[in-house]
Amino acid sequence: MSDYALELLSISCTFHSKDDPGQRYTAVADTTLRVRAGEFVSVVGPTGCGKSTLLNVGAGLLAPSSGTIKVFGQTLSGVNARAGYMFQTEALMPWRSAIDNVMVGLQYRGVPDADARGQAEAWLSRVGLSGFGDRYPHQLSGGMRKRVALAQTLVLDPDIILMDEPFSALDVQTRQLMENEVLDLWSAKKKAVLFITHDLDEAIAMSDRVVVLSAGPATHPIGEFAIDLARPRDVAEVRTQPRFVELHTQIWEVLRDEVLKGYAQQLRKAA
Ligand SMILES: Nc1ncnc2c1ncn2[C@@H]1O[C@H](COP(=O)(O)OP(=O)(O)OP(=O)(O)O)[C@@H](O)[C@H]1O
Ligand SMILES: [Mg+2]
Repeated sequence: MSDYALELLSISCTFHSKDDPGQRYTAVADTTLRVRAGEFVSVVGPTGCGKSTLLNVGAGLLAPSSGTIKVFGQTLSGVNARAGYMFQTEALMPWRSAIDNVMVGLQYRGVPDADARGQAEAWLSRVGLSGFGDRYPHQLSGGMRKRVALAQTLVLDPDIILMDEPFSALDVQTRQLMENEVLDLWSAKKKAVLFITHDLDEAIAMSDRVVVLSAGPATHPIGEFAIDLARPRDVAEVRTQPRFVELHTQIWEVLRDEVLKGYAQQLRKAA
């Protein structure tokens, strides 16, 4: 069996412009990215560079223009059934209660309702929401909704977890609580995680490895760093360690210019 849970091999993604189908935009160019079974990998890059695009490719939701995706050594065609996906935007169904949102994936898989409900309740309690199952998304705080989304992803026990800036909309304290919870859950089960973020502190605190992407167009990896900080980690405390600061300095050296380029592009687009 392959050591790798997920391999994105020489991936390129070119889009046609909606306004002018003759115009093409290459978001991702010749990108290779691998995640070992049990490994926590973060991808950082400036806004709009192509992070979500790459994750969509890994989830099998977007076919790349060229390149191959392998899941545990097998070439992927169609949706990646071994992966659970936590989206960048809120993805709960507003008309379903928290418990019904967590159950829905199991129900799609044909798990009988009573069993699905039991598993969903167990996961709601694991993410600190026992007793909140009957609430609808609008009756929950932003942090609670993220917990429901986390339970919704993990209840399916995916071998690969894809997370797209899952906590970027949260306040700093709630965010650190959630990051620590994700690390606790991950260390219990050691799934392969591909975690997208634009926050370098978050990437270092959480990961075994950080991959830096260039600013678009034609995004591709420009640096890769092993994070040799001891685990278990507390995401707030780990930031005070000298080794954390050292890694941050090294990676920021690579990322800084790309962030500036990405920011300049945003300003040009807005003008
Ligand atoms: N379906 C599409 N059609 C046309 N262009 C697209 C499409 N999807 C993405 N793009 C473009 O590809 C680029 C990368 O987009 P993507 O959403 O992957 O960036 P991102 O790194 O996730 O950004 P953010 O940090 O803001 O979430 C952007 O310029 C975006 O406009
Ligand atoms: Mg994105």
